[in-house]
Amino acid sequence: MNTPTDASGQPAHPIREGFEEWEHFMEERYPVPLEGEIVPPPLQRTMQRREGYRDYRAEARPSVKEFYRLNHLNQTLALAREKRRDFGRLNRRELSVWEAVEWLDTIVDDSDPDNENSQIWHALQSAEAAREAGLPRWFVLTCFIHDLGKVLCCFGEPQWAVVGDTFPLGCRFSEKIVFHEFFAENPDSRDPLLQTEHGIHEPGCGLEKVVMSWGHDEYLYLVTRDRLPIEAQYVIRYHSFYPLHRENEYLWMLNSQDKRMLKWVKAFNPFDLYSKGDAKPDANKLLPFYRELVEEFLPGKLRW
Ligand SMILES: [Fe+2]
Ligand SMILES: [Fe+2]
Repeated sequence: MNTPTDASGQPAHPIREGFEEWEHFMEERYPVPLEGEIVPPPLQRTMQRREGYRDYRAEARPSVKEFYRLNHLNQTLALAREKRRDFGRLNRRELSVWEAVEWLDTIVDDSDPDNENSQIWHALQSAEAAREAGLPRWFVLTCFIHDLGKVLCCFGEPQWAVVGDTFPLGCRFSEKIVFHEFFAENPDSRDPLLQTEHGIHEPGCGLEKVVMSWGHDEYLYLVTRDRLPIEAQYVIRYHSFYPLHRENEYLWMLNSQDKRMLKWVKAFNPFDLYSKGDAKPDANKLLPFYRELVEEFLPGKLRW
């Protein structure tokens, strides 16, 4: 496999660090669950409750701020449409789930003992927590694969086009999107048509009709959508849509199916945010279960 670099030719290490910094930032930003959200016992063990208000923006590392600056500057409607069209052709590679896991691992495989294989551990920890919570097999599988769209970085995509909270394009940027001020530099901010509350969309139009900022969510959805239950598709496609599932913004664009499916996106979020424990799962012991699970839903090669 190729040694991954980002679009500017940087080696893989900064990408891995960037992913982890962003994930860590999200844990800090949402340290406790939503009011009324039921956190399954496996997650209660590892969730770190922090009391009181914290100014996560002030505490964000400069590299995290710079990540958001680039993300908010570059994620335009035109760019997201073009990325979706380009990557949606799924003509780059044919990889099984396991080959994609292995490939993604090449970006996290470095000499830092504290961070060994963080992506595979995150996949296993969230999936194991879901299994322990008694969730259905499709949900466990979804936890296991939900971040595989990050192989985008192996195709040379820059970090700001792979991770980050996602948001809809073609209408006003919600002020609840973190570091909202960076949108001032986004060319879409200068197009009055795109900056009304609904922009080019109709209320109730449904998420399917809305182009989201480009990243690993949409990409994995495109790769797996023909083969997974609709609930799994929603979780994969919108798991980083924090402005919706944590901030209750953009509710006006949902249709009845979106409203039904939102509960699964919300149910998934704690498994993403709160499943990172210190104890590493015994990968060898777990492998037979996950091999069977992948074989059940996503056998053979997938087109990427
Ligand atoms: Fe993700
Ligand atoms: Fe994740």
